[in-house]
Amino acid sequence: MDLEKLLTDRLAPAFATVAGEPVDPVVRRSQRADFQSDAALALARQVGRPPRAVATEVLRHAELADLCSVVELSGPGFLNLTVADDALAGMVSALATSARLGVPVAAAPETVVVDYSAPNVAKEMHVGHLRSTVIGDAAARLLEWLGHRVLRANHLGDWGTPFGMLIEHLVDPGEPGAAQELSMGDLDSFYKAARAKFDVDEAFRERSRRRVVALQGGDEATLRLWRLLVEQSERYFLTVYDLLDVTLTERDFHGESSYNDLLGPVVEELDRLGLLRESAGAACVFPPGFVGRDGASLPLIVRKSDGGYGYPATDLAAIRHRTGTLGATRLLYVVGLPQRQHFEMVYAAAGQAGWLGPPARAEHVGFGSILGSDGRMLRSRAGGSVKLVGLLEEAIARATALARERNPELGEVEAAEVGRAVGIGAVKYADLSSDRNRDYVLDWERMLSLDGNTAPYLQYAYSRIRSIFRRAGVAAQPDAGISLAEPAERALAFELVGFAGVVGAVAVNLEFHHLAGYLYRLAATFSTFYERCPVLRADGPVRESRLVLCDLTARVLQQGLYLLGIRTPERM
Ligand code: ARG
Repeated sequence: MDLEKLLTDRLAPAFATVAGEPVDPVVRRSQRADFQSDAALALARQVGRPPRAVATEVLRHAELADLCSVVELSGPGFLNLTVADDALAGMVSALATSARLGVPVAAAPETVVVDYSAPNVAKEMHVGHLRSTVIGDAAARLLEWLGHRVLRANHLGDWGTPFGMLIEHLVDPGEPGAAQELSMGDLDSFYKAARAKFDVDEAFRERSRRRVVALQGGDEATLRLWRLLVEQSERYFLTVYDLLDVTLTERDFHGESSYNDLLGPVVEELDRLGLLRESAGAACVFPPGFVGRDGASLPLIVRKSDGGYGYPATDLAAIRHRTGTLGATRLLYVVGLPQRQHFEMVYAAAGQAGWLGPPARAEHVGFGSILGSDGRMLRSRAGGSVKLVGLLEEAIARATALARERNPELGEVEAAEVGRAVGIGAVKYADLSSDRNRDYVLDWERMLSLDGNTAPYLQYAYSRIRSIFRRAGVAAQPDAGISLAEPAERALAFELVGFAGVVGAVAVNLEFHHLAGYLYRLAATFSTFYERCPVLRADGPVRESRLVLCDLTARVLQQGLYLLGIRTPERM
């Protein structure tokens, strides 16, 4: 129940009658009234009539009496709409008795594959994987809540030439500690040590090459070692997911290797469709519309000159599997922006092959980088990539210290719980509250602050409302009458009824900063309401009504933060 949409639905037929064709009334929140529509101006230009006359005629046709208390024409032809208090109160009451807070389940549920996280075996997760994991998990939570069938696909990098060197390092008699390192989750040292040998030691390089051949040839002993690498890494990634409080499980690992058997058929089919061309010994698809700087068509290499298959082939096989076998109609790829062209080419090639076409479509949910305070790519003090777990542990430690300091009454266990919820929440929120298409700066002070657009601010707002009820030993009665006599009450009511519209929009554009921004506005509007309108000290029906507003605010904050993957402690 979204007021913008409701008013749009009422105004659109009136505009259509006047224009003789559909017109978007462009209803927006307004300084002049509650909402405004300025569309009569453009329409007037189009039909060559005075704007005020057009606006007047639109008003004559619009049915707004039950929704608006005042509808007026102002300026050169603006329509100002003031929502009737009883209409608004009715909507708030409907929300209060709705388990879904007014958010409808999808009218046409889809099967959606969310491809996210996707770290690489025997390699530390870096901050890019953090963004993918956090954004992808929010997408999965949101779409699932809307009633879609969500399949989480953790497209683990678990195949390819580096495995020759990794396996050789694992069995190197001179490296008795390697397996230990791996099982301790010290993937960085493991990978780097293997790499270092590979770079300088010709004999090691040769053994590694033979290993790759054995692996691809299905040699059982080699496969066993490969599985060990994969399992140890998966186990480690699961501990990170647990710490990060994301919904990915061991059932969601669908690594690149799981498509191996499909690669041959994919190439055969592309060949049969006449889409393959040879280029420098490699089998390539040239999807139309992709050209390099020199103007030549760009190849998507599906089989390399050495006969091996690479990243593009696996992604093509994955698309074919996801649409054909899993029946998915929406494919989301939560991967950094540098891979944009790769995905666009893969989608185009899959489209040519008939594996991706309406109603199925694929979307690259891209994102920028996380920057350090110097405005450059986030680096550790030693200049290496930042270890994700270290970052999360630091967030929790800082938040736990702050929780103890702010509320000495919290016991040890509770302070640790709050510290974890707030620390992890702060990391996720800093990510989700910034436009994903941009880079953002990781700033501890800011993201842990209790003021501003931060997780702690929202979590605190939630816990404060809960404490109102706890301290007074009361509960809100969802069917209590709602009265909106005070401007601060009306303002809060408008925010509350806006939840459904925001959720609906974010389900389409997956721009979670709009949801974050909404929650922040809601909390700030609540805070003004709470300053101006006594709740427990009010009497009778006003008190009952205000308790419902408080409770609804807490519920919307909790649900909104849940969708972002952020916990809401009852006390802070
Ligand atoms: N493992 C890749 C990386 O670390 C990301 C994989 C993304 N998903 C996909 N279907 N290609 O860059």
